[in-house]
Amino acid sequence: MPPTTDTTGTVRVRVHLDPADWSRHLAEETRRGLTDDPPWTPPVWFYDEVGSHLFDRITRLDEYYPTEAERSILAARSDEIAHLTGARTLVELGSGTSDKTRLLLDALWAAGTLRTFSPVDVSEEVLRTAATAIAEGYPGIAVDAVVGDFGRHLDRIPTGGRTLLAFLGSTIGNLDPDQRRAFLASVTDALAPGDWFLLGTDLVKDEARLLAAYDDAAGVTAAFNRNALVVMNRELGADFDPDAYSHRSHWDPVAHRIEMHLVADRHQRVTVRGLDDLVVDLGAGEHLRTEISTKFTAEGVEHELLAAGLEPVSAWTDPAGDVRLTLARRP
Ligand code: AVJ
Repeated sequence: MPPTTDTTGTVRVRVHLDPADWSRHLAEETRRGLTDDPPWTPPVWFYDEVGSHLFDRITRLDEYYPTEAERSILAARSDEIAHLTGARTLVELGSGTSDKTRLLLDALWAAGTLRTFSPVDVSEEVLRTAATAIAEGYPGIAVDAVVGDFGRHLDRIPTGGRTLLAFLGSTIGNLDPDQRRAFLASVTDALAPGDWFLLGTDLVKDEARLLAAYDDAAGVTAAFNRNALVVMNRELGADFDPDAYSHRSHWDPVAHRIEMHLVADRHQRVTVRGLDDLVVDLGAGEHLRTEISTKFTAEGVEHELLAAGLEPVSAWTDPAGDVRLTLARRP
């Protein structure tokens, strides 16, 4: 579909995602997951309005360290990142983290190099709100927002050199190794030689802390997890009974990832109208996997970047060593 362009002051929003095409893509992904053994669902279903609010609460829980840890690194290192990169364009994939992005914007602004901010998100509404707020806060900066799926539309992002592409919040942890390979390759392709990539990753740590971060005492993560069923009921015409599932977080030490599951307390037969009346049977105690959240080692991050043709240049952790920001460059 041809991109829709709309210019309001210094905000331009280009739509590379046809809502019908996006819905079809999500439906097919979900069908693939629900018919797999064991079954799984894509994490995108967490983030309706209720789910985004629950995630926001998660980021402020004592048990959930990644958000604050990454913010502390950005607070300490944004000036250094600005001077190392001299970026004119900041591209941010997934603009849900735009409060942290402000730390980078402030530093690039102060360094005097920033001309364009380009947030990329699948939600036009989220993007418009973020884009407008940023445009108001940074007069003279062009906000060139892209409605798109970073898994498929990275090639649509204009990077005219001196670009810093940021992918924060450890969102890369949601991808399995094959998806990460494909994603990082598309990052390399999207960048010009000399351009920069800033990647936030959560690190492998004590299992008890990892499990607590995904199974907090107040039950916010459990509510966040079950909300995916409510969203699928609404968006896909499914008939999940959210109360019939228990929240479970599980650490897989081999794949070094947390997995979130919903475990059927008793036999469940689910019909999904929007997937041609697909019937999913879950026996008592059977699991539906709703998310993977990969944790990395420093060596693992560097290896994956190098394998994708990106050269790690600098890296920083928070004082506790919980999360890592890696700055890499396309040679
Ligand atoms: C937004 C994908 C980084 O994996 O930690 C938080 C989502 N899931 N609690 C993560 C999440 C459960 C989060 N990411």
